[in-house]
Amino acid sequence: MTDFEGLRALVTGGASGIGRATAELLAGRGAQVAVLDLDPSSVEKPLLGFRADVTDDTSVRTAVESAMEALGGLDILVNNAGIGAQGTVEDNDDDEWRRVFDVNVLGMVRAARAALPHLRRSEHAAIVNTCSIAATAGLPQRALYSATKGAVYSLTLAMAADHVREGVRVNCVNPGTADTPWIGRLLDRASDPAAERAALEARQPSGRLVSAAEVAGAIAYLASPLSGATTGTSLAVDGGMQGLRLRPVGR
Ligand SMILES: NC(=O)c1ccc[n+]([C@@H]2O[C@H](COP(=O)([O-])OP(=O)(O)OC[C@H]3O[C@@H](n4cnc5c(N)ncnc54)[C@H](O)[C@@H]3O)[C@@H](O)[C@H]2O)c1
Repeated sequence: MTDFEGLRALVTGGASGIGRATAELLAGRGAQVAVLDLDPSSVEKPLLGFRADVTDDTSVRTAVESAMEALGGLDILVNNAGIGAQGTVEDNDDDEWRRVFDVNVLGMVRAARAALPHLRRSEHAAIVNTCSIAATAGLPQRALYSATKGAVYSLTLAMAADHVREGVRVNCVNPGTADTPWIGRLLDRASDPAAERAALEARQPSGRLVSAAEVAGAIAYLASPLSGATTGTSLAVDGGMQGLRLRPVGR
């Protein structure tokens, strides 16, 4: 497919995992793609890498402007940079709550603020936020992370309303557990990584983890000009975890 031919995209957190897979997919379908990341050192051509910390407004604005100079404009923003947090509501102190909200929610706000003036000039403007099944299902030991993704979900709807008449579509993807370096780090910290991986796989009705490429495919679907009538939606990419209620195997 070449549905992104002539379009320019920016992917935050695009040096790893879902962001990397998205940047590569959009480029493969014809887009010029800039990646904003804390560490863009692994980003290779044709992708363009820019160092940015989404918790720092100046850093985001500077990187977006550098990317605009390189791309000559912007049609698509993929707000994907994010970090995790584990525990119940009793387990993370105030500083941790502020830190994770700063990356996962305010990071998207900062990137959108810097990108919107450019997106308004596009004929095919779209923002896709990487949300999570944690926004729509109660997962144990994820109070803080889930709260940030619930905020991302609501922010997606509010932004979609604010910008629909400016021709800017805003949607989000809700991945289940995806096989990225993030989950690799989580498994490495588990007392029994194989058992932890099996438990995560079993939680998804498909019986396996989602791949980064599958999430990228959903992001590309929402970002594509072919989806020009789609705004204010969330797309689950979770192996059926949110929507299905299966009977136990054999019963
Ligand atoms: N992996 C999963 O199971 C899963 C499930 C649902 C949602 N998500 C979401 O997908 C997104 C990407 O996750 P992933 O699994 O690909 O993780 P990842 O750790 O592989 O990649 C995240 C990227 O974000 C960058 N990043 C982190 N903090 C940043 C900051 N302050 N400024 C700029 N860049 C920063 C990192 O450097 C990294 O390149 C996140 O928003 C995450 O919440 C992941």
